[in-house]
Amino acid sequence: MAYHSVIVGCGSYLPARVVENQELAAKVDTSDEWIIERTGIRRRHIAAEGETTCDLAYAAASAALQNAGVKPEAIDLIVLATATPDHTFPATATQVQARLGLTHGAAFDVHAVCSGFIYALAVADNFLKAGQAKTALVIGAETFSRILDWKDRSTCVLFGDGAGAVLLERQDGAPDVRSQGVISTHLHSDGRYKDHLFVDGGPSSTQSTGYLRMAGKEVFKHAVTNLAGVVNEALSANNISAAEVDWVVPHQANQRILDATARKLQLDPGRVISTVANHANTSAASVPLALATAVGDGRIQRGQLLILEAMGGGFTWGAGLVRW
Ligand code: ACO
Repeated sequence: MAYHSVIVGCGSYLPARVVENQELAAKVDTSDEWIIERTGIRRRHIAAEGETTCDLAYAAASAALQNAGVKPEAIDLIVLATATPDHTFPATATQVQARLGLTHGAAFDVHAVCSGFIYALAVADNFLKAGQAKTALVIGAETFSRILDWKDRSTCVLFGDGAGAVLLERQDGAPDVRSQGVISTHLHSDGRYKDHLFVDGGPSSTQSTGYLRMAGKEVFKHAVTNLAGVVNEALSANNISAAEVDWVVPHQANQRILDATARKLQLDPGRVISTVANHANTSAASVPLALATAVGDGRIQRGQLLILEAMGGGFTWGAGLVRW
């Protein structure tokens, strides 16, 4: 029996506290103008003291379940993408599982930094296609504020905290570009570029959490090339043109990356969902947050063709073609 997966609901959560650019300009040598011109970011949400990735993930998961009208008991797989777990172990996914009151099925984290949600979606989609699960909760959740060096102006202005989630249901029949569901996913990684974007700590190297370090210009160049490449790969694998895509839902790193990628793909910028001004870069949470925002405000409608894409530390990058 062939199967495919359908996204039956989505949800998101943002911490209550909003930090405007001006507030950062009071702490490091930066300005609202510089941040907006170079990144498009105006504000970001920052988790409250004691509020963890698991809290954000659970709130987004609950919103997705409500949006889908599905009871938690139906879930038999939870895949959570994060680079900022509550603990080195156990996986944050298992803590979300416990909060949902579930003791059946499997729950685990995937770690692909900013591409994490695309990786988690691909993993869950493949579990469902293989017949190994029926209803999957896929979450991207991060508290990057906890791994930022708040004295480094070149990185601390770029990130925010948040979470987004989707609920996938298995349905009969192979994926088909004309039918609702996840049509295909495409993943890549290249570990040679670790030094361009990494955290300078970890349990096995320094026994500390460490801080995010980034060579921004290098990341920028690779991002545009890799993202345009993987979007084209998804389009040609399904024999469709960019003109047939209704919405691009990209990882929200920087407005200039969104614009440059759209230009390279000859895509109408009006069809690219952008939330970077209000959320900044929320790593694995950014794609499902952007998705939930555009579904919530009515831009994304059932039946439309979406391409989700992301690139992050590793480097890792990927895309998913979805008929909403
Ligand atoms: N405020 C004011 N000045 C700053 C700031 C700041 N916050 N940060 C850096 N500068 C200064 C630099 O020190 C430098 O000064 P100098 O010329 O005196 O040395 C100057 O601004 C230019 O710095 P650049 O790094 O060359 O600036 P650039 O135009 O490349 O913009 C940025 C930096 C925004 C980080 C850009 O490279 C970028 O967006 N890169 C992509 C990185 C990214 O988004 N990563 C996210 C994770 S990966 C991903 O999600 C895809």
